Amino acid sequence: MKNEWYKEAVIYQIWPRSFKDGNGDGIGDLHGVLEKLDYIKSLGADAIWFSPLYPSPNADYGYDIADYKNISPDYGDLDLFKQVLDGAHERGMKVLMDLVVNHTSIDHQWFQESLKGKDNPYHDYYFWRKGKGKDGKKPPNNWLSCFEGGAWEYNKDLDEYYLHVFAKGQPDLNMDNPKVRDEVKSIMRFWLDMGVDGFREDVITYISKKEGLPNGFPLPIATGVEHYNKGPHCHEYLTEFRQDIMKDYDCFMVGESPMTNSKDALKYTAGEDKVLDMMISFDHMQADCLVTDTIVTPFSLKKLKKAFTNWQNDLYGRSWNALYIENHDHPRVISRYGSEKFWKESGKMLATMCYMQCGTPFVYQGQEIGMVNNHLTSVDQFKDVVTFNNEKLFKKLGFSDSAYLKIANRTSRENARTPVQWDKSKYAGFSTAEPWFSVNPNYTDINVKQQEKDKDSILNYYRKLFKVRKENKIFIYGDYKEHMHESKDFYVYERNYEGKKALVICSFADETKTFRVPAGFDLTKGKLLLQNYKDAPARANICPLRPYEARVYLFE
Ligand code: NOJ
Repeated sequence: MKNEWYKEAVIYQIWPRSFKDGNGDGIGDLHGVLEKLDYIKSLGADAIWFSPLYPSPNADYGYDIADYKNISPDYGDLDLFKQVLDGAHERGMKVLMDLVVNHTSIDHQWFQESLKGKDNPYHDYYFWRKGKGKDGKKPPNNWLSCFEGGAWEYNKDLDEYYLHVFAKGQPDLNMDNPKVRDEVKSIMRFWLDMGVDGFREDVITYISKKEGLPNGFPLPIATGVEHYNKGPHCHEYLTEFRQDIMKDYDCFMVGESPMTNSKDALKYTAGEDKVLDMMISFDHMQADCLVTDTIVTPFSLKKLKKAFTNWQNDLYGRSWNALYIENHDHPRVISRYGSEKFWKESGKMLATMCYMQCGTPFVYQGQEIGMVNNHLTSVDQFKDVVTFNNEKLFKKLGFSDSAYLKIANRTSRENARTPVQWDKSKYAGFSTAEPWFSVNPNYTDINVKQQEKDKDSILNYYRKLFKVRKENKIFIYGDYKEHMHESKDFYVYERNYEGKKALVICSFADETKTFRVPAGFDLTKGKLLLQNYKDAPARANICPLRPYEARVYLFE
């Protein structure tokens, strides 16, 4: 297995709008990031991934980009970004930008030019098509967007429709046009020349649409997805980006890929001709839902273990995993897979369960202090296009306002977008002005300042965990073997490396349960590297595990 920097790294994700406001306008910004670089470093982070920082009208909070080579005035400017970049580098941290090239914003100059008519060279940067039906008033096909009704928006002046598989404000780029691919490479070069170290590539497996844009299998949302996810030229275009860029730069690339299993991931991330270093997968984020977070099912530990184990087994020695349980697209993990009642225990256990596996840890802002879901009192307090689209869908199905509010509070990705809770002062120390989005009222109890002081805090546990990973290569390069797959209470796996063994034991039960140690292990002979309760009584082969207890043993 080749040693590459990212394999030993921890990556911290910043969703800038809610990280830290440094100029007092209620919106997080790069002044705030600059202030917190030491904090990020103190977690054991080796890289920062910035969700989009570019100018954007915020139809999808930055994932609709109006200018790829600039910084949004909400967040600062290019000079300030350079200060952050230098500041990160001085502290030994790399910086990754979000590369969102499946679509632009409607405010992007390319789209504005494309509106000028067929003869404009930018017209073919997008998917403009004539309508269907006798009067030409029907959309070109039956595709539905992931975010906002139909996937086609009509333009009267052109008498044509443009394709948007996300929000209306996010027209899809036509990657089949070589000029568009050149633009993508030019964007990459722009940031790499400035010193950026790589990219997280947004829905990168959506960039190639099937020729002829055929009708899709009817679904409540995203009809047509089978014609563009891992589409016909996806691998080819990614190869082109990788080859053209990698000959001049050492550039890390992690690609987001919904609806992709571990076998498919290998096609993109394994071997000499890999096009991505890793893939952001979704399987393990569906242990309490079907396909999307909104279709809730009871949490299934077996489903969670199956998802993780497939990726661990299939990728080991061939490719590399991105380990994450939170980001800006999902509700907070303690509220999903853990327990707000056993907040501290489950927060630490979930970190242990995920980050002791083989792969690179990604930590999302606020996760390291155990931030949990918010509870808003009315749907109009939400801000996100997805929440409002879901509202329409659920109302159509007959759900009442209050029933939908309950669903949104449990499932909305906005739960992860409340301002980071820095201290217990007004607005949680996030800003001196009223924040753009409501602060979770629990900030007086859950905040960074309080947890800095508390040795036993979730924050300090994350620090310890990443230290243990770094000091013990077994957690980086060791293999993975799952035990007790059928258990509904325990997630247990071993790692092996250079003659050493480690055993990771995690309980998902909310009461004490008897744990029988897997054959071949004697807990009294192991060195306890991590534990989330103060004491950890153990006999050789049996021990009671308390609610959400986690332990990591090393056998040398
Ligand atoms: C995935 C991003 O993570 C998400 O936040 C965004 O809404 C969609 N892609 C569309 O860009």
